[in-house]
Amino acid sequence: MGTIQIQNLSFKYPNMVQNLFDQVNLQIDESWKLGLIGRNGRGKTTLFKIIQGQLSYQGEIITNLNFTYFPQEIKDKKQSAQEVALQIAGLEDYDLWQIQVEMAKLNLADEILLLPFQELSPGQQTKLQLAAMFTNQNDFQLLDEPTNHLDIQGRQTVEKYLQAKQGFIVISHDQQFLNKVIDHVISINRNDIKVYRGNFDTWQDNKAQQDEFELQEKKKLQKEIKKLKESAVKKENWSQQKEKDKYKKPGMENAKLDKGFIGSRAARVMKRAKQIEQRADNDVAAKEELLKNIEVEEPLRLNYQDDVHTKEILTVKDLQLNFDQKVLNKPLTFKMKKGEIVALVGVNGTGKSTFLKKLLQITAAQATGEYQFNKNLKVAYLSQDANELSGTISELAEEKDLSETDIFNNLRKLGFERELFHNRVETMSQGQKKKVALAITLLIPADFYIFDEPLNYLDVITRSQIIEVIKKYHPSMLVVEHDQTFIDEIADKKITFEPGNTIETDA
Ligand SMILES: Nc1ncnc2c1ncn2[C@@H]1O[C@H](COP(=O)(O)OP(=O)(O)OP(=O)(O)O)[C@@H](O)[C@H]1O
Ligand SMILES: [Mg+2]
Repeated sequence: MGTIQIQNLSFKYPNMVQNLFDQVNLQIDESWKLGLIGRNGRGKTTLFKIIQGQLSYQGEIITNLNFTYFPQEIKDKKQSAQEVALQIAGLEDYDLWQIQVEMAKLNLADEILLLPFQELSPGQQTKLQLAAMFTNQNDFQLLDEPTNHLDIQGRQTVEKYLQAKQGFIVISHDQQFLNKVIDHVISINRNDIKVYRGNFDTWQDNKAQQDEFELQEKKKLQKEIKKLKESAVKKENWSQQKEKDKYKKPGMENAKLDKGFIGSRAARVMKRAKQIEQRADNDVAAKEELLKNIEVEEPLRLNYQDDVHTKEILTVKDLQLNFDQKVLNKPLTFKMKKGEIVALVGVNGTGKSTFLKKLLQITAAQATGEYQFNKNLKVAYLSQDANELSGTISELAEEKDLSETDIFNNLRKLGFERELFHNRVETMSQGQKKKVALAITLLIPADFYIFDEPLNYLDVITRSQIIEVIKKYHPSMLVVEHDQTFIDEIADKKITFEPGNTIETDA
């Protein structure tokens, strides 16, 4: 039976002071369905690269498995989807049917094979890559955040697809998704890396119990110290009282309750309290080391100006977007008022992001119908693609006319390590890039927010920080997000984009 044995693995990137991985030991079985979890920048993607032998490390990785990685880097995106899929699967034309079998399970129509790969929606690109990868049943799959660009149906399709497979590690911050597809968890914690049996919920219960246990232990110790100290003081008072009484009552000179006896008892209790306190200090220090595995969540701020005086911010009437002849969506009509949070929902490829870009005038797409967008609005835009950023944070601050310190402060709140403040964004993890983009967007003085898939790539804690900040300020906002819970929690209104003449088959 195939296994991956990781022994005493240590690794750091050349620019790092401390090891990213320090003496890690893991054993993984080829039949397991694993979820790899951990906050942004903890090394999930790096671990995949190490397993594939792309980075040099200390220690040993013993395995007889073949690995395939998602997402593959597609060098020529102008090639047809078919050519790309065949390359990923390592198959010849006549074996295309094997990929088609997998495509059918993922609700992908055969017609998309003829399109240039770059014309597929991100969700279709994801599914096609998965179909091609899983054609080879013997490979062990390393899937790095496959759900990011998938719509709700797409996520469910991939969920079902993976339920029927085994032998993979999937990185994801989507808890519902993980609960459906995994039977083991590898958790990269602040202090260690561990494998657990069970799904995300089992892991979370375990972790919560562990955290709670540590906190209770600390409280218990503190209580114990307090009680002992109080009792020592009480005894001391009592002994002093007795001392006074001694001289009040005649004939009591030889009483057993002499000051010496009582006083020494009080002193002993006090000494014991001191000892316990000392031990407790040491214990607390050790516990704090353990408490390092507990994550904290700090509230964020939004530089919301709310300066617009008109009530109506956006009016859309019979709007359809198109690239060349391809119409993306059915005609849309809606209005948006100041202070409203409007969620754009709908399947992949129906033009939600394109619509946002059209408002911002950063797309070549054409529009028919009408739309009026208040020109005086100061807009803060969070793009779907964090890879657009480059340079250092200090360069970005200058470019955006923001204070570098403010960006750093936001990043600290987002759990971003101080050591990375001066690194180039290009060298950062996906989530770290997204955090830089987010830290900037929150600081831009704005009266209108356009967020395109804000949760993608972000870890669980950061996700809940975003929900909290949006709820707190309740700004005028257009948001695209496939996470149903998020939409339900923050949106006042949902606008559904329906396919124009696209060929997505997910119903
Ligand atoms: N090529 C590189 N050079 C220097 N540092 C790097 C490089 N790639 C990643 N890092 C750093 O290594 C750490 C781990 O990165 P990695 O991409 O493995 O994290 P991750 O757990 O996948 O995070 P995310 O959830 O954001 O995708 C991060 O601090 C990152 O900034
Ligand atoms: Mg990653």
